[in-house]
Amino acid sequence: MQKFVIQGGRRLEGEVLVQGAKNSALPILAASLLCDGESVLDNCPRLSDVYAACRILSGLGCRCTLRGHTVQVQAQGMHSSVIPMQLMREMRSSIIFLGAVLGRMGRCELGFPGGCELGPRPIDLHLQALQRMGVRILEDNGVLQCSTPAGLHGAHIHLQFPSVGATENILLAAVLAKGETIVTNAAREPEIIDLASYLRGCGARITGDGSSTLCIQGVKQLTGCTYRIMPDRIAAATWMAAAAVTGGEIALQQVNPADLVSMTDVFEQMRCRICPFREGLYFHSAKCPKAIRSIRTMPYPGFPTDAQAIVMAVLCKAKGTSLMEETIFENRFRHVDALVKMGADIQVAGRAAVIKGVRSMHGAAVQATDLRGGAAMIVAGLGAAGETTVEQIAHIDRGYDSPETVLRGLGAEIRRI
Ligand code: UD1
Repeated sequence: MQKFVIQGGRRLEGEVLVQGAKNSALPILAASLLCDGESVLDNCPRLSDVYAACRILSGLGCRCTLRGHTVQVQAQGMHSSVIPMQLMREMRSSIIFLGAVLGRMGRCELGFPGGCELGPRPIDLHLQALQRMGVRILEDNGVLQCSTPAGLHGAHIHLQFPSVGATENILLAAVLAKGETIVTNAAREPEIIDLASYLRGCGARITGDGSSTLCIQGVKQLTGCTYRIMPDRIAAATWMAAAAVTGGEIALQQVNPADLVSMTDVFEQMRCRICPFREGLYFHSAKCPKAIRSIRTMPYPGFPTDAQAIVMAVLCKAKGTSLMEETIFENRFRHVDALVKMGADIQVAGRAAVIKGVRSMHGAAVQATDLRGGAAMIVAGLGAAGETTVEQIAHIDRGYDSPETVLRGLGAEIRRI
């Protein structure tokens, strides 16, 4: 079992190249199986979730090779439509393969994703939408048998909630379906735009991505293409938080500042200074970050649920009292106990957390509870006095490409043991 050992209190300084986005790489890898030609995906982060997606592609009969940060996928030899239960469990977001496999094979068998560390993971919106497109679904002992007796066809779909996963699944099923699909109240996340841009590069006809109405005209065939995965917004926010807790000053390279506004706005409210430049931004932390009266997680363009724990780690040492409200997932405060163990003053009541800033935090032995909760513990450890050890870091490796290398490059003292 690996762990991170952090000696806190070092001021972070320097430049960081932000990794490619996990939440974009995974749906694009799923999309690559829809293509007859080869796809070459650059800027793909090296993460355990990406490896799991490659194993799913290989299991379906695609040829998938990862060299450096480039993945090549050749889906011509795809012969299977079954995603084994074990691979479904390895990657929480493997449900995004459903729309793609249906689009390519007209059927799909996969394990029901069940719950995860953030609470229950319903997929009712995904399944209802696919049923409207002609998919017949049978559930038997935790296995979903999906077929398309009369083929996949376009449909008008209104999502009751702008679910990122459901929007991706509809998009993936619709690009090769017969006719037009219109999705209203679609998710507007930049990662949806990235998926649509890749698919357009392969010949798909999609408009409206980035707005809440998506239109997809089905085409007969998709070629592959060469595509560069967008920068990871949450990794960028994590490095900003790490600079903020250590009184640091960093330059983030390869980010799109416009995608980060809901998070940079929060850091500015804490009195950090941010100057965007082309494909990057400078971040100067505040001398003493100020508390934020209230932050509520919301679908894009609101403040992302994925940044909640990370920003909370900064607010622990901010001057004053902050309120954090989690509206997306019901079980996303599991990192709080670890932060409290490190000296934070946080009270949780249902979906709200009240964070009273303390003057200093101290190192402790903690365990990552989930991906972003684990990242929050690293951030807190960097700003705490003394030694912090973070165990269960497999959670963190799902989403961060060698975080210890990035942080050491900025002057942090962190080792993987
Ligand atoms: C969510 C986040 C995404 C984040 C990802 C990983 C939102 C809107 N989505 O995406 O930004 O990167 O987690 O942490 O912030 N739901 C249903 N039925 C469904 C699907 C979802 O009720 O069929 C509910 C969930 O219970 C939850 C919310 O919708 O309350 C989450 O939405 P969704 O966007 O689907 O989740 P992810 O795609 O995992």
